[in-house]
Amino acid sequence: MSSAGDQTESKPKEKIMKIQDSIILVTGANRGIGKAYVEEFLKAGAKKIYMGVRNLGSVADLMAEHPGRLVALPLDVTKAEDIRNAAETAKDITILVNNAGALSGGGLTGDQDMENARLEMEVNYFGLLSLMQVFAPVLKANGGGQIVNLSSIAGLVSFPGLPTYSASKAAVHFITQSARTILAAQGTKVLGVYPGPIDTDMAKDIDLPKDTPQHVAERTVKAIEEGAEDLLPDSFAEDMYEQYLTDPKAMEGQMQVMYEDMMAEAA
Ligand SMILES: NC(=O)c1ccc[n+]([C@@H]2O[C@H](COP(=O)([O-])OP(=O)(O)OC[C@H]3O[C@@H](n4cnc5c(N)ncnc54)[C@H](OP(=O)(O)O)[C@@H]3O)[C@@H](O)[C@H]2O)c1
Repeated sequence: MSSAGDQTESKPKEKIMKIQDSIILVTGANRGIGKAYVEEFLKAGAKKIYMGVRNLGSVADLMAEHPGRLVALPLDVTKAEDIRNAAETAKDITILVNNAGALSGGGLTGDQDMENARLEMEVNYFGLLSLMQVFAPVLKANGGGQIVNLSSIAGLVSFPGLPTYSASKAAVHFITQSARTILAAQGTKVLGVYPGPIDTDMAKDIDLPKDTPQHVAERTVKAIEEGAEDLLPDSFAEDMYEQYLTDPKAMEGQMQVMYEDMMAEAA
């Protein structure tokens, strides 16, 4: 697992991707980390970026700021028809960024929790898996390419305050690891990204120190261009993962304390 400051654990493969002149699809591109990815990829010289969005109007300003290199693509990652159409349209991509995500904020035993858990799995896991399925042949045809999957530090360390979200991101982690092995044969590299709390709409109710979406995007560009396999893009994620590796049970205990504090504050 590589960190924000140290990419030495990554294992560069023969063919390293460059953002310069690449053609990229970013899901959930209209705000938060997805929007930061679009801006950072533009800066790094991407030739064309498809912005997968549920509402085309949500990227009108971005399109106006960067005429010519951006394409708005209707893409709800839970809709099979949108996914099929996206694969038909974006046949020229060399990089797929599975960024779209949902955090329902659900617990474990409440009335709405099963519905919330299904939504998180549909968007975070099945959406990402569907995109990998339809775009793997596209990437192969275009020379191999790169997939970037957004998991979370909550996909490596279980967060009892976000139990079903954590489980959906753990599913992303495992499918990302398998995809890396399976798709290596066709020359496709797979990068897993595991952020801690990042200052976006998703984390607005999370009372923890937050890094910026821009920093995640900068670190991701660097990780792609260094051929990294996984990235902890911020110091919160980096520290937490290190503690988890040192003593997983102690980390579980810390998460219990964090959960009890959270419940006491909410009472
Ligand atoms: N923020 C954090 O602290 C944090 C930490 C670790 C990992 N992450 C992960 O990073 C990724 C980006 O998160 P963020 O913080 O930028 O969240 P965000 O600000 O809430 O943005 C979420 C994005 O996902 C899109 N989206 C949601 N459901 C979708 C669907 N069914 N189909 C297509 N797009 C959909 C949203 O589109 P609409 O505008 O249409 O809703 C929006 O563009 C997510 O995978 C998230 O789990 C975030």
